[in-house]
Amino acid sequence: MKIAILTGAGVSAESGLGTFRDVGGLWTQYDLNDVATPQGFARNPALVHDFYNARRTNCAEAVPNAAHEALAALATGAHDVTLITQNIDDLHSRAGSPDVIHMHGQLMRALCAACDASWDAPLVMSPQDPCPDCGAIATRPDVVWFGEIPYHMETIAHAVTSADLFVAIGTSAEVYPAAGLVELAQGRTLEINLEPSARANAFDDHRFGPATQIVPAWVAELR
Ligand code: OAD
Repeated sequence: MKIAILTGAGVSAESGLGTFRDVGGLWTQYDLNDVATPQGFARNPALVHDFYNARRTNCAEAVPNAAHEALAALATGAHDVTLITQNIDDLHSRAGSPDVIHMHGQLMRALCAACDASWDAPLVMSPQDPCPDCGAIATRPDVVWFGEIPYHMETIAHAVTSADLFVAIGTSAEVYPAAGLVELAQGRTLEINLEPSARANAFDDHRFGPATQIVPAWVAELR
């Protein structure tokens, strides 16, 4: 079976990485206009680097949980699995998932805003870091901000459209285009989340509960 999976912050919540919109979530502590837009970065690059430096450290200290591990195991089985994530952490890869599609970029990568070169980010980035390729002082985290176009959209649209099963895991479905991918699905659709998301009605099937319990149980049924 061809399976396309979209994950969000809920899949990493039990690894200790905060979600965005839950109680105490990142967007209740920070104004996303300051730290997750090109305009915010132009206004105050040091603040934006501080925000992502803190998240990079948290990510480096976190370990993959049972949900990441079950999804990695699924990819080594009989099914043809495409794993798409909105998460900028690297927990899917560290759990062993191959070819993770990071539609919102990666915390562990740096990007030159002048020449588009990208490279492994140091743990602590600063506005003064020069680009290793062109030398410009225009280094930013390689993450997609509000107002920017997510990565790999053509590949993602093709994977979702051609899948027999589309599964969204741990996402509030508040952010587009990720939240609209369910509309592209031609096969069956399943939402796995702590609670019904904003797009819950668009899914055929639902399983509600913590990802570390629900995802391994679902994967065990499929394998
Ligand atoms: P949100 O914080 O919006 O939503 C997280 C979802 O995970 C919520 O629906 C929670 O109910 C659910 N959840 C929390 N803990 C869970 C658990 N243990 N098991 C299962 N589900 C759980 O995060 P995303 O939907 O990923 O983009 O947010 C989407 C995008 O908004 C992010 O990629 C980021 C953010 O702004 C950018 O920064 C561009």
